[in-house]
Amino acid sequence: MSEIEFQRAMGLHQSGQLHEAEEIYRKLITLNPKYEPALSKLGNVLLGLGRTQEAVQILAQAHDLKPSNTETLSSLGSSHAQLGNMEMGLAFVRKAVDGDSMNVNARFLLANLLLHAGQQEDALEAFYQTLEINPKIAEAHYNVGSILYSNGKIDDSVHAFIRAVEHSPDLVAAHSNLGHIYANRGDYEQARVSLEKALKLDANHGLAHKNMGMVLHTTGDLNQALNHYHKAMKILGNDVEVHVLLGNLHRDRSELDLAKKQYELALDLDPKNEIAKLNLKKMSASRIAAWHFDMLADGSRNDAYDSALKAAVQKGDTVLDIGTGSGLLAMMAVRAGASKVTACELVPVLADVAIKVVKDNGLEHQINVIQKKSNALVIGEDMPEKADVLVSEILDTAIVGEGVIPSLRHALQNLVKPGAKVIPAGADFRAVLIETKEHHRVHPVRDISGFDLSAFNVFRTEDVYQRIQLNLLAHTKLSEIFPMKSYDFASLPPVTPDTDPEVVEMKVSINKSGMVNGVVFWFNLRMNEKLTLSTGPDGEMVHWGQAAYMFKEPKMVTAGETFVLQVWYSDTLIRFRI
Ligand SMILES: C[S@@+](CC[C@H](N)C(=O)[O-])C[C@H]1O[C@@H](n2cnc3c(N)ncnc32)[C@H](O)[C@@H]1O
Repeated sequence: MSEIEFQRAMGLHQSGQLHEAEEIYRKLITLNPKYEPALSKLGNVLLGLGRTQEAVQILAQAHDLKPSNTETLSSLGSSHAQLGNMEMGLAFVRKAVDGDSMNVNARFLLANLLLHAGQQEDALEAFYQTLEINPKIAEAHYNVGSILYSNGKIDDSVHAFIRAVEHSPDLVAAHSNLGHIYANRGDYEQARVSLEKALKLDANHGLAHKNMGMVLHTTGDLNQALNHYHKAMKILGNDVEVHVLLGNLHRDRSELDLAKKQYELALDLDPKNEIAKLNLKKMSASRIAAWHFDMLADGSRNDAYDSALKAAVQKGDTVLDIGTGSGLLAMMAVRAGASKVTACELVPVLADVAIKVVKDNGLEHQINVIQKKSNALVIGEDMPEKADVLVSEILDTAIVGEGVIPSLRHALQNLVKPGAKVIPAGADFRAVLIETKEHHRVHPVRDISGFDLSAFNVFRTEDVYQRIQLNLLAHTKLSEIFPMKSYDFASLPPVTPDTDPEVVEMKVSINKSGMVNGVVFWFNLRMNEKLTLSTGPDGEMVHWGQAAYMFKEPKMVTAGETFVLQVWYSDTLIRFRI
């Protein structure tokens, strides 16, 4: 009678009706408290129901009655492991394996417990032994794959994951891992196939969304990549890596503010995250033109401003620094005796850094950094009163390209006192006509090393000068160095729009025969009446280099002739015609 009941309970147990099975096992044990098979099975049912403490008690009774029962040993092992006593758990499961070396469940359990205990090598061995007995256990293949992957044996791990999905095509994690590995190998097509399978099986698989985002990002589908990253973020929660990936994606979509925000979120979660730190830094570096470093490294330039400020600023003067950049000239002005400096900077990231620089130097009470273009400054709001001294260094290689003329014109009219000292005081162009085979080749682009590269001209801007270092360019000077226009920064020419330039015709004496390819020009910067420095090829201030304007149609000249050069000056451009 009890045998029939026991069989019925086992049937219910196997079909997952655990409560019903428990009831019958308990009845049988009430009738016979030493009925070992029922105790062992009841322990197993309780374990399945998550009542681990109860399970341990019942299983201990079963174990006392029959210490060799491998099922009891396995269940006891599981229970102890679940209760946090991994060592005891492993000891029981090992006994089960020793008692029945072909018991696949016990071996698989041992392998899983070893994996949880962090004993990867032993776990791997145990999974291999499990698979020798039954090669169809997909989870065992999956775990083999995971261990091999973390040991760097990527190819072997791929085989294991493939075997896992052969035996269990629904094993999402294996598809997802395969997708990840294929993507890392650059096999994006296969990666996409595996990840699509994973997402079809489980549309909420966060890792698969993350990997799919990476694949789509790399292969250029930025919109879809964004969708997958957002899903991954929603499913995985605040995931550092997804923040970094989103940062990279926004960066590549030129959404720099969004990118910055994502990197910052990643760093909030993990302040040591090297990738987020590096990418954030690179991004802010790329937002600032590299010439800022060359400029700050130009000691002659810095010293010239320092000494001009020392000479001009009277104790207690107020100073306006237009285009403060790092804040350098504003700080020099304070050192020279200024009581207050208003330092404006139009580029927001630069203004932010200038604020920090000024604070780092303890000058925040004397210097007010304002993130604005100078033309937008308002007396009474941004500055208490008009300034006594105006300092600026908004000069490009050809003086006018950074807008110095309109900016100073506005400042003289609106932001400084009449008769204010202006630093620098002015600038005078110098120029020379040259022949150069090197630069001629790319103005416009023609034959390069025997190939027709003229299509490359789509990237070339016509009618503009380029920054060069004349001493590094193979060239012949065909004229003496001659002066062009001079600017007095305290008294500027009237507004001259680019569409209506001032045209000046110059007669230049040719002193060597050759082909005039272009004009190279630079400037002497008058800091004050006593101090002038040059940006020329032999000048003191090196970072500006020289400007080269190449003629589209070069002209043959003979020594002694006069060459007519038209110069078109406007507020922000300088062009030439021959
Ligand atoms: C050549 S840098 C000089 C930086 C710094 N003054 C120095 O000498 O080291 C010129 C800076 O002026 C800024 N700038 C140019 N014109 C400006 C204007 N009108 N108002 C505010 N900033 C300006 C540019 O963004 C750039 O950062």
